Amino acid sequence: MTQVSDLNTQLVACGQDHLVDYLSKVTPDTARDAIAAQLLSIDFDDLGMLIEKYVRNYTPAASPASIAPAKYFSLDGDWDRDAFQAKGEELIRASKVACFTVAGGQGSRLGYDGPKGCYPTSCVSEKPLFQIFAEGIRRSQEKYGAVIPWYIMTSPLNHEATKSFFAEHDYFGLDSCNVMFFEQGVMPSLDAQSGQILMADPMHLATNPDGHGGAFKALAVSGALGDMKTRGIEHMSYFQVDNPLTRVVDPVFLGLHVFAPESSGEFSSKMVAKASWDEKVGVFCDVDGSTEVIEYSDMSDKLAKQTNADGQLAFNAGSIAIHAIGVDFIEKIVSNPEYALPFHRAVKKVGHFDLSTGQSVAPSENNAVKLEKFVFDGIPLASKSIVVETARVEEFAPVKNETGSDSIVSSKSIQTARAALWLEAVGVRVPRSADGSVDATIEISTLTAVCSDDLKGIVLPDAIDPGSTVTL
Ligand code: UTP
Repeated sequence: MTQVSDLNTQLVACGQDHLVDYLSKVTPDTARDAIAAQLLSIDFDDLGMLIEKYVRNYTPAASPASIAPAKYFSLDGDWDRDAFQAKGEELIRASKVACFTVAGGQGSRLGYDGPKGCYPTSCVSEKPLFQIFAEGIRRSQEKYGAVIPWYIMTSPLNHEATKSFFAEHDYFGLDSCNVMFFEQGVMPSLDAQSGQILMADPMHLATNPDGHGGAFKALAVSGALGDMKTRGIEHMSYFQVDNPLTRVVDPVFLGLHVFAPESSGEFSSKMVAKASWDEKVGVFCDVDGSTEVIEYSDMSDKLAKQTNADGQLAFNAGSIAIHAIGVDFIEKIVSNPEYALPFHRAVKKVGHFDLSTGQSVAPSENNAVKLEKFVFDGIPLASKSIVVETARVEEFAPVKNETGSDSIVSSKSIQTARAALWLEAVGVRVPRSADGSVDATIEISTLTAVCSDDLKGIVLPDAIDPGSTVTL
C-alpha cells in the first residue's frame, strides 16, 4: 500500500492523475497491483520533464550553427586497405570481436507478424535474416579460427519469440552458449495532446521499446557487457536486424576502427553515398569539430541539396547504421550520467484503451508520442570517431517497408546485384539485360562466402543461364 501511495505522488507530479483515478477503481486488488507494478518499473525521475519537453511544449531543436560534411575514408582514398585488413583480421583471430545486433524494434512499417529477424529474406531460399547473419558468423568463425560471440538485443515485444525461433532452428548451427539474448527497456507511450500515459488495454500500459539507443544501458544492466569483458571481447561489430547484406565482421573496418590514427577505437561508422538529396537516411556531419549523424528530417532542404564543384552532394555521407564500438567506451558512457543519450520524439498511431469511455481505440491519425534514444547519439561522445565509405550494393539492402524502397523486393534485387558482381570478379559470366541489370536471380549463401574473395578456389559454373535461379 505504501508503494501505491508513493506511486500516486509520482504520477500526480508528472500530470498522470488519470491513472491515480483509474487505479483507485480497479478491482480486485491483484489486478490493481499488477498495473501498479508496471507503473513502478517506469523511471519517473525524468518523465515529467520529458513530457513537458517532447509533448506539451515541444519545439523542434534548432539546426546546429556550424555544420559541415564529415570527413571519411573514401573507397578510392589514399589509405592502405591491405594493412588495415591484416590488422583487423588479427583482432578477429584473437577472438576480441563480438557481433551485436539490435532487434528490439516494432517493425511496424514492414507489417510482419513476428520478430523482424524471422522474416524470410534471402533472394532464392528465403532464409530469415537471423539465419543469414548466423551463417555469416559461422563462416567467419571457420575462416578466422575464432569464436565470435553474438549478442542480440530484443524487447519485451519479441524476446520470447526470438529465443524460441533460435531454439527451434538449433541456433542455425552456432553453439548456443555463444549466442546471448537480452531485453532493452521500454518507455510509456504518451497521448500526443495531453501527455497522458496510454493504456494498451484495461490491464496493460501502452509502451514502446526505448529505441536502439537503449542498447547502451541494456548492454550494461543485462550483464552482456560483463560477459564480453569475461570473454576478452574488446570491440563490437554493431548492425541492425534488417540489412541482409551486412558483413557480420569486416576486418578492414575493424582495423581502421582500432588502428587508424584518426580513430580513438571508441565508435566508428560506415557510410554510403546518398542515392539522392532526399533519401531518408541520416547524414554524417561535422558539428563544431565533432562527428554527428543529422537525421534527414532535421536537415534543411537547402543544405541537403548543396553540391560541390564536381556536382556531388556536399552532405553525401549516408548512414547505414553499421558501427564498430569499443567495449571500454560503452562502460565509460553508461557509468557517467553526463553521457546519457538524449531522447527523440516520434509521433505515431498507437491503438489504446480509452479510460474515459471504456472503449478500445484504433486511431486513423497519429495520436501518440513515442520517446526513443538513437545509438548514433553516442558518436559525438567518442574522442575521435571515423566514418568509412562502402559501396551501397555491397552492404546496404534493408527490409523496412512492405513495398517500394527498402522493401523485400528492392532488397532481393540488390542481393542479386551483389552476387553477380562477386561472381564476375572471379570470372563467372553473368547474363545482363540492356540496362545492365542482372537477368537471373542469384543467392550466395553466407556459409559459402562473406566477401567476394571467399569465392576464389571454389568450384563455380562458367556462366549463369539467362533467366535462371541459382543458389551457391
Ligand atoms: P527502425 O528504425 O527501422 O525501427 O529500427 P523498427 O522498429 O524496426 O521499425 P518501424 O520503424 O516500426 O517500422 C532499426 C533497427 O533498430 C532496432 C530494430 O530492430 C532495427 O534493427 N531497434 C529499433 C531496436 O532494437 N529497438 C528499438 O527500440 C528500435
